[in-house]
Order: sequence, then C-alpha cells, then structure tokens
Amino acid sequence: MSNIELTNVDKYYDKNHVLKNLNLSIADGEFMTLLGPSGCGKTTTLRVVAGLEKPQNGIITMDGKEVVNTKNLFFEDPGKRGLDLVFQSYALWPHMTVFDNVAFGLKVKKESRERTKTMVAGALERMQIGEFSGRYPSELSGGQQQRVAIARAIVSEPKVLLLDEPLSNLDAKLRVEMRTEIKRLHHDLGTTILYVTHDQVEALTMSTRIALFFDGILEQVAPPMELYQNPVSFRAADFIGNPRINFVEGRAKKINEGLQVNSDIGFQTFPGELFTGDMPQENEFDCIIGVRPEKLEIDTTASEGGIPGVIYATQPAGSETTVHVTAGKSRLLVKEIGIKTYSSDEKIWIKTDINKIIVFSKASGRLIKKAILD
Ligand SMILES: Nc1ncnc2c1ncn2[C@@H]1O[C@H](COP(=O)(O)OP(=O)(O)OP(=O)(O)O)[C@@H](O)[C@H]1O
Ligand SMILES: [Mg+2]
Repeated sequence: MSNIELTNVDKYYDKNHVLKNLNLSIADGEFMTLLGPSGCGKTTTLRVVAGLEKPQNGIITMDGKEVVNTKNLFFEDPGKRGLDLVFQSYALWPHMTVFDNVAFGLKVKKESRERTKTMVAGALERMQIGEFSGRYPSELSGGQQQRVAIARAIVSEPKVLLLDEPLSNLDAKLRVEMRTEIKRLHHDLGTTILYVTHDQVEALTMSTRIALFFDGILEQVAPPMELYQNPVSFRAADFIGNPRINFVEGRAKKINEGLQVNSDIGFQTFPGELFTGDMPQENEFDCIIGVRPEKLEIDTTASEGGIPGVIYATQPAGSETTVHVTAGKSRLLVKEIGIKTYSSDEKIWIKTDINKIIVFSKASGRLIKKAILD
C-alpha cells in the first residue's frame, strides 16, 4: 500500500500563496500527473510531499500514516518517507561513474554485489544507457544524465516515485521512447508515481489520472480521456489538446428539458441528461461551444445537417491533414486522418456529432453540457 493524501495544504513563500487549500488523493499504484502552466505550483507540491518544503497548513498522509500535520508541527524526515525522487535538475554525483551513481542506494541497503550488478544493468537497459555504465556524468549529454537520474531512482523499485519533468532534456524521439519505458515500468512494478510535467501530451499518454492546476488551485482531477473530452472549464479545455479545441460563440436558450444553441456551426438541441450543475439561471444566455478538431468532418457535397463553409487552407502532414475552414464568422480547425486535398476557397459542408460537442457558459467559463465519452 502506498497511497498519498494531501488535505487542506497551503504553502506560502513569504507572502506569495503558492498552494491554495490543496486537496488531492493519490491511490495505491496510481500514475498521477500534476499538469499546468509554468509557476502554477507543480514542483512545490512534489517538494511538500517529499518533505523538502514545509507547508504552513495541512495534513499529508502516506499509507494512512501522517507525514505532515501542521497543527502539531509534525514533519516526518524526508528520508523516512520511503520515496525516490528525480528532479528537474538531476544532481548526479560527479566523482562517481554511471554504474556507481545508480548502485549507490543499493550499496547503502547492503544488497549483494551480484544482485546489485543485475539490478543496475536492468535499470540502465530500461533507460537505454547500458553502454555508458563506466562513464562519469561530465562525459554525458544532458539527456543522458537525465536518464541516469531516472535509472538511479527506479533501480531499487521504490514504492513511490516522484518525477519532476524527468524527460525535459530529451529530444522528441527519445522523449517518446522514454514515455513508453516509464509507462511500462509503472505497469511492471505497480509503483505509485507522482509525475510533474507542463507537457500535456506527456500527461495524456502516461497517466491514470491528471491533476490540472492553475495558479496554485486544482482545476480538475480526472482520467486523461475524461479531462480531454469533458474539461470542466473553458481554460481547462484550452490547455488540453493539440491542435487546440475549436471555440465558437453562440446564444443558448433553455427549452423543455433541454437547451437550444444557435451558432456558426448550426442550430442544435441538446437533451438535458448531459447537463452539469453549472447551468446559468437565465433562460437565454451567451455560450461558447467547444468541439475538438477530430470531431468535425468535411463533406464536399451538401448533405443533411451539413453547415456550409469555405476552405481557408490545407496542411497535409502525411498521417493526418489539418484543414482550416471558415464558417460564418468563425474559423475552425478540422483534423482528418490521412492525406486530404482541398483547394483554397473551395465550398464545403461541415458535419459534427452533437454528442461530441461541449458547451460552456460564457459568463462563468464553466462546462454546462458534457460530451458522451468515446
Ligand atoms: N524557493 C522558493 N522561494 C520563493 N518562491 C518560490 C520558490 N520556489 C518556487 N517559488 C514560487 O512559487 C511558485 C510556484 O513554483 P513551482 O516551482 O512550484 O512552479 P512549477 O509549476 O513547478 O513551474 P515550472 O513548470 O516552471 O517548473 C512560483 O511563483 C515560484 O516563483
Ligand atoms: Mg517545476
């Protein structure tokens, strides 16, 4: 068992309120990613859990045991919290070889020489750095050093692993490979992982759940595909997804057990089952419709329910094509699989599925109508 629970945690640096009444529960074996823009408090959360920073308020438990309780000024020693860390700056010991850096923790634990060799080799192999075993950190690139730091953290198969942007120094290809390795490691070892990134693709592809932060406040905690399809707010929707979600301004009107919305992508009636608790009081109000680029389709002939539009530009990228379309006053991005060719200014019709459209209140920015999840 290795669950982590943060209750009413506040952290200030002087007068700067960095974590604001944070409540977060990380289940045993979970891969929880802290995601959010730079400066929103991700690293601070990790440091508070690790015991490298003391919060001014709150309780933190690990395995149900308190490691922080500010009421009685209790702060468990970082070394006694049973976790391993990889930080943005991956301090390796410069006077030790890669092998010795990775083996250090095992030596402290008095593992046998044979077993140490096997375990270190396994960790280096997983990070694809076996060949650098005898080198010193100064003889490695930044990305190679970063992988040594991860190998050092995973070699003893810790129950909890805290990773702060561990892939930030890697090139795009290696980053994708390492994502796979870390995800596989999580599967193999069942380690509870608390992972920090500001890269939303990394968060979406690896996590069991994502905690999205803005400015020290949790916006949403949800499994990746729920966060992607039903972001609770306009700004969460805008932060997640590449290419970004389409937003279309509209006017909404409440009708019997439903909502009618009129916008540049047509006139739609949404049934009430998918409403959230954030519906405005007014009978008519301004709204913003959100629709992901891959949930729009292009027809070259007029069809029932098709919304007329005009091609603005087409960007084929081999496996997919991004098409920019003008509909009314709105510019829409459509993502199609494979290579598609349209000519600029060509007249087309756009189709979408109302089950995949989400609607926000313009005044509050909150989600009022959800999508049916894929
Ligand atoms: N040791 C410190 N002393 C004072 N302020 C700090 C300290 N560490 C962080 N901060 C401030 O706390 C806020 C949150 O910082 P934090 O490092 O947690 O952000 P982050 O979400 O990890 O950002 P990034 O994605 O850039 O790493 C920032 O405004 C930062 O300037
Ligand atoms: Mg950080």
